[in-house]
Amino acid sequence: RIIVLDFGSQYNQLITRRIREFGVYSELHPHTITAEQLKQMNVKGIIFSGGPNSVYDDNAFRCDEKIFELGVPILGICYGMQLMASYFSGKVEAASNREYGKAEINIQQKSKLFQNLPENQTVWMSHGDLVTAVPEGFTVDATSPSCPIAAMSDEKRKMYGVQFHPEVRHSVYGNDLLKQFVFDVCGCRGNWTMENFIEMEMEKIRQTVGDKKVLCALSGGVDSSVVAVLIHKAIGNQLTCIFVDHGLLRKGEADSVMATFREKFQMNVIKVDAKDRFLSKLKGVTDPEKKRKIIGNEFIYVFDDEANKLSGIEFLAQGTLYTDIIESGTQTAQTIKSHHNVGGLPEDMKFQLIEPLNTLFKDEVRALGTSLGIPDEIVWRQPFPGPGLGIRVLGEVTEDKLEIVRESDFILREEIKKAGLDRDIWQYFTVLPDIRSVGVMGDARTYDYTIAIRAVTSIDGMTSDWARIPWEVLETISTRIVNEVKQVNRVVYDITSKPPATIEWE
Ligand code: XMP
Repeated sequence: RIIVLDFGSQYNQLITRRIREFGVYSELHPHTITAEQLKQMNVKGIIFSGGPNSVYDDNAFRCDEKIFELGVPILGICYGMQLMASYFSGKVEAASNREYGKAEINIQQKSKLFQNLPENQTVWMSHGDLVTAVPEGFTVDATSPSCPIAAMSDEKRKMYGVQFHPEVRHSVYGNDLLKQFVFDVCGCRGNWTMENFIEMEMEKIRQTVGDKKVLCALSGGVDSSVVAVLIHKAIGNQLTCIFVDHGLLRKGEADSVMATFREKFQMNVIKVDAKDRFLSKLKGVTDPEKKRKIIGNEFIYVFDDEANKLSGIEFLAQGTLYTDIIESGTQTAQTIKSHHNVGGLPEDMKFQLIEPLNTLFKDEVRALGTSLGIPDEIVWRQPFPGPGLGIRVLGEVTEDKLEIVRESDFILREEIKKAGLDRDIWQYFTVLPDIRSVGVMGDARTYDYTIAIRAVTSIDGMTSDWARIPWEVLETISTRIVNEVKQVNRVVYDITSKPPATIEWE
């Protein structure tokens, strides 16, 4: 495996991911990991990531210097190259011009990293400091107008440094360079697959859990589903899942989740029917933030009540992804933490946390789900907010209005799928605004609800654009909703991007 040491670069997660794409297992570890720990991990190569520090800062991130003596190939990227240069007594200085963005490098010396690659290449730079003299034994391999030492190497010691970021797509040959490091320098074979990952994680889970019991909150979303199936595969019915039906789910969702996990996977799932509890708490509440809070808190109370009925549970499994960890600003991936506050579960639950997905990205989790035999409808499920339809019925939530959203949403989903658009559109759903308008149906006046269709394309939900659904598809959806859903006489399509709007209406 290839270990990436985290010196704080915003791109370090990309490095592990690129390497896994080559079929080589890679993990990110804090820069504080010791040479001894690395030795025990059967490491074929080490990559030092970039980072925001200057190597001469008093509080600059450093590493265990014995790592340089392990005899394992090292690639230093940006800060990582400067750290390498300073360890081997080269010279690092502040650049007169800080450099951010595209740069052209010229190859001076074809080390193994640059073999078979063009003499001139576009790369992506982002740095304030520079290596200004290479250490003894190193050669200058590439230069750029504002960075005379853009790459260096000591092939005898298998030490390589690049000032630019090969992991970023703007570095045109960056992927080739990383590949040459991983395969030609480190000698990796590229036979790692999701099946290996499953075996490895199952073994870890068995060792951690022993004969103890694990609890998992199952939402039917891709992350919690994959975690539950993976853990179940490892420890069988030592795992108990709790599925809370808050009555704010889409049509058919609760049944399909139960059918998948209880029947297909033979898992131990407790289904809690908490519809009345949620609806009575939401009665008369119209403020969106209040609604969200009530739903979030009630979820915790229900989960807590059910967990208290069980005995002997020591672990809580969560589908935390790598991006969740980065977003919550925690130090790098660790499989087990003894405390938790992620996911809004109560602080005083005395569980140890198991998070087997915390080194993966969303698309890797999808691939894992498919390898585990989880059906496409779950693996490719569009994002669905925790508060569910509670925030798609604008204003007060009633059973009557939920039914309108559920039925119209079902028609929308059916037609989008029929049109073959379900994987192109990131998220699509219907909303019930709190308005009624006049219509005419069969010669009679109607005064009924309006349904809004929201469909967006997005990468991560942070920004989005409205989906250009073909007119004919919209027409079919509109006709069906007005004909088939009682109390609806008008359908509108939301054509706002985010920003300025948000994806959900509340
Ligand atoms: P907005 O409406 O903020 O939504 O543009 C961005 C994405 O986040 C989803 N969303 C939520 N997901 N709990 C969640 O798990 C929530 O409370 C929540 N609110 C919004 C939304 O569906 C969209 O994908």
